[in-house]
Amino acid sequence: ADREATERIRAAKARLGNKAVLLCHHYQRADVYQHADLTGDSLKLSRLASQSDADYIVFCGVHFMAEVADILSRPEQISILPDLAAGCSMADMASLAKVERAWRELSSVMNPDEKVTPVTYINSAADLKAFCGEHGGIVCTSSNAPKILEWSFARREKVLFFPDQHLGRWSGHKMGIPLDEMAIWNPDLEMGGLTKAQIAKAKIILWHGYCSVHQMFQPAHIIKFRNQYPDGKVISHPECSFEVCRQSDAIGSTETIIRTVKDSAPDTRWLVGTELNLVERLAEEVKHEGKIVQFMAPTVCMCSTMQRIDPQHLAWTLENLADGRVVNQIKVPEHEAGLAKIALQRMLDAS
Ligand code: 13P
Ligand code: SF4
Repeated sequence: ADREATERIRAAKARLGNKAVLLCHHYQRADVYQHADLTGDSLKLSRLASQSDADYIVFCGVHFMAEVADILSRPEQISILPDLAAGCSMADMASLAKVERAWRELSSVMNPDEKVTPVTYINSAADLKAFCGEHGGIVCTSSNAPKILEWSFARREKVLFFPDQHLGRWSGHKMGIPLDEMAIWNPDLEMGGLTKAQIAKAKIILWHGYCSVHQMFQPAHIIKFRNQYPDGKVISHPECSFEVCRQSDAIGSTETIIRTVKDSAPDTRWLVGTELNLVERLAEEVKHEGKIVQFMAPTVCMCSTMQRIDPQHLAWTLENLADGRVVNQIKVPEHEAGLAKIALQRMLDAS
């Protein structure tokens, strides 16, 4: 059945020619990734989407990525997500209603529009990017977060960072901000569960969100690896916990992880703290140089939503497009897209 889907994808792609471009995130499964026209991390894919001339941008990734492609592409271009159920559980941890409530509650102790830059990780819904566009804020990705924090602090004295606490904490730490000047905002509690004194002290207010894939990686996995292979190297994604990041030799986006391992000396042994599809592909690609690439967790952990984009959905999507029927379009409402684009453009200009 898989061979049949592969053939259907090839045939539909051939019929579409350069009317469609297939953008693939590095976490996509091998049987989808093999069909990619272009691959990348979130920042690279955003740029590629904004530069594409194709009529159809078929996004093999998750919902927020297809939204960004829609926002950054020209109005007549169409952004498509082969399975509409491919979301991101971390992105779902922050909603516009809860962020607006946080903003209202903060306004009881200060004027947030003067004092606080809202920074949203690109792993968030378009309405949150629009919120940032409207309130002097900005978007960041895993590859530019410290630079985006610098941009933010050059304008206002505090940052409200959502939804990923780990990326916010690690990036703040990289900038030299002490951990006790970062506070966790729990969106289910009044005033985020913080006292006025805690809010006054905090330079970064971190939303209580996290990635369920990256939280599986533990410092104990690194300690065990280092005991076994004292010369081995550890590289992790900044969505990992602070302790995992602190104990790693290098931290980076998916694109940076791939490049760092590929550029390393032959025979290096790597422990990698990010999604399994990426790690398995990378291991295959570098093994001829004697490099060994190991996955950090002992259990299988894939991003279950990325995994939803399978060859069957992709074949169905492309065949419909080739027949002139648009399916699974991701369309951000115009007003929201306009405001979100302001926050995304600030990021692209600053990084
Ligand atoms: P990258 O931007 O590093 O590809 O990360 C996207 C993501 O969702 C990681 O979980
Ligand atoms: Fe979202 Fe985590 Fe999946 Fe990335 S790996 S898309 S952050 S759930």
